[in-house]
Amino acid sequence: MNVLLIGGGGREHALAWKIAQSPLLEKFFAIPGSPGIAAFAECVENIPVDDNAALVSFAADRAIDLVVVGPEAPLVNGLVDSLNDAGIKAFGPTKSAAQIEGSKIFAKRLMKKYGIPTAAFEVFDNPDDAKAYIRKQGAPIVIKADGLAAGKGVIVAQTLDEALNAVDEMKAFGTAGSKIVVEEFMDGEEASVLALTDGEKIIPLIAAQDHKRAFDGDKGLNTGGMGAYAPAPIVNDEIAAQVEERILKPTIDALKAEGITYRGCLYAGLMIKNGAAKVVEFNCRFGDPETQVVLPLMESDLLELMTACADGSLRDKKLSWSKSSAVCVIMASGGYPKAYKKNLPIDGLTKAKALGAMIFHAGTKLKGDELVTSGGRVLGVTTTAPTLREAVGKAYRAVEVIHFDGVHYRRDIAARALN
Ligand code: AMP
Ligand code: GLY
Repeated sequence: MNVLLIGGGGREHALAWKIAQSPLLEKFFAIPGSPGIAAFAECVENIPVDDNAALVSFAADRAIDLVVVGPEAPLVNGLVDSLNDAGIKAFGPTKSAAQIEGSKIFAKRLMKKYGIPTAAFEVFDNPDDAKAYIRKQGAPIVIKADGLAAGKGVIVAQTLDEALNAVDEMKAFGTAGSKIVVEEFMDGEEASVLALTDGEKIIPLIAAQDHKRAFDGDKGLNTGGMGAYAPAPIVNDEIAAQVEERILKPTIDALKAEGITYRGCLYAGLMIKNGAAKVVEFNCRFGDPETQVVLPLMESDLLELMTACADGSLRDKKLSWSKSSAVCVIMASGGYPKAYKKNLPIDGLTKAKALGAMIFHAGTKLKGDELVTSGGRVLGVTTTAPTLREAVGKAYRAVEVIHFDGVHYRRDIAARALN
């Protein structure tokens, strides 16, 4: 198969690494790709990922058999629809299906209509009405921009003042923040369950736990994710069964009832408390950095599974998993998720690899021969080991030999599971 991967972050690097192991793979391209992905695929940098027509024409020219769309933006922008219209197979939901992430209002209303467990909510397009409602409800309370905001459009307000300010801060997200959701605060422990689906059958992957806040002890701002581990023990067999029966299957069926066939990866962000799971959010794609810990544990052929999702033939597929644990520590630019410097030289990667780590590039680029930082999240350092404790030790030993100016990482990834 000739495969084209869209995206260039840490998640796409992990996808590329896994796809490259498939015996089905022939030619492999990535747009835009990254210095990490370049080890597996020919990276094409001059086609913008929001130019559907140009992407379709590239895929047609290169006789691409499957386009794998990594990030949410091109999915919400209808890339899969354009590819399918041109007769090109793609892994990922269509524009209408991607609304499950592209519009929090769409997702919340769908869950409410079909009885899928989630926090109570109200929708506002007028800041004053939102503030009046917040005053009535009190804190803690959660304020969310309706549209895409790179994981940063959510404010969990502990005080009334914070909540009222959050309403004004939503303006920073432009049209994505012109409508807002005000949501009941949910207490509990979070986990991510990603699932492959062809719109009929759904196969959950091994559960992972992300670390969304910037600093140790879950302090600081929400980020795209500062690290992850899998499997997540909080998702025991009972919770896993509940997530499948009460959340994943009903969501695919709810979409179908609305006339939408969802194909690709459905990501359920969960809050778990007292043996019950509720949905925090849905994403229409693989998680980042969850993918960087889930795929290293997957023994099955991902390319074969993705093709089955696109074809509607997931029915007879099964997945097999390694018994090991995996952890990924994100090394970020100092200042992230706020302003940070770029173009800082990165070193130590060869040493870190010699210590048994996989290095997934999230925000790097080559300046001549030199690897430099180019994003907020720069690298994901993943290790696997028979136990989570060993994987964590191994990951941090690798992290410690990697350096760039201002580097910031959390030192407590997976601590919750280890305690
Ligand atoms: P989201 O982008 O919707 O996943 O929100 C980002 C993060 O905000 C989540 O991972 C949670 O940590 C937190 N969060 C979102 N909604 C709620 C809620 N209703 N109650 C408590 N925390 C929440
Ligand atoms: N790890 C959070 C996300 O992918 O949205």
